[in-house]
Amino acid sequence: MPGIDVRHFTHLQAAELRPLLLDVYAEVYADEAKSDPFASVERFGAGLDGWSRREGWTCVIGYDGDQAVGYAYGAPLPARAPWWGGLLSTVPEDVVAETGTRTYALSELMVRVPWRKTGTARQLHDALLAGRLEERATLLVDQSHPKVHALYASWGWTTLGDLRPRIPDAPLFHAMLLDLPLR
Ligand SMILES: CC(C)(COP(=O)(O)OP(=O)(O)OC[C@H]1O[C@@H](n2cnc3c(N)ncnc32)[C@H](O)[C@@H]1OP(=O)(O)O)[C@@H](O)C(=O)NCCC(=O)NCCS
Repeated sequence: MPGIDVRHFTHLQAAELRPLLLDVYAEVYADEAKSDPFASVERFGAGLDGWSRREGWTCVIGYDGDQAVGYAYGAPLPARAPWWGGLLSTVPEDVVAETGTRTYALSELMVRVPWRKTGTARQLHDALLAGRLEERATLLVDQSHPKVHALYASWGWTTLGDLRPRIPDAPLFHAMLLDLPLR
């Protein structure tokens, strides 16, 4: 679908973006939220606030005309990032050593149904990661969503191992890595 306009934002716009980000989340995750407390809008809002108050938080939103069709956001991992705390697979220590500037974490990527399978998701992903100065990116994908895992693999992401965040009701994830700069 041509004509998706991608706009870039930082933590300075987080407060004004919050209602829009929650609305899109509520629509995209409506089914999951019915049965899974981890997917509730309240939980998502708390997570969003945690991410978006970081100075390094960046967000891209796709617009079709004046309609927001999806978004992606993330932030660099701080040194001693809790991100890796739930890693269940054994990996060399160096792999999870964070410096504050080594790794950009892609925290969320979602696209409203009418704009799925149009390249919009990839466009948002690439727009968020293009020009990042970190050496790599990381994301977590729910192991019960193998098609999403495969989608990320097709975009060049590799699987590091199993990870379950140390927060209540968290599912089991694949932790993935992508070399930057984006090719
Ligand atoms: C992930 C996403 C941005 C990808 O968009 P896209 O590139 O247009 O790709 P699709 O929507 O076709 O998704 C690829 C496949 O994964 C499946 N899939 C996508 N999200 C899924 C989910 N949350 N749970 C289970 N399966 C899912 C799709 O049904 C599709 O399968 P199909 O090829 O058999 O139809 C979009 O599907 C989305 O917003 N999903 C809901 C939110 C989400 O899961 N985000 C990823 C968090 S890591």
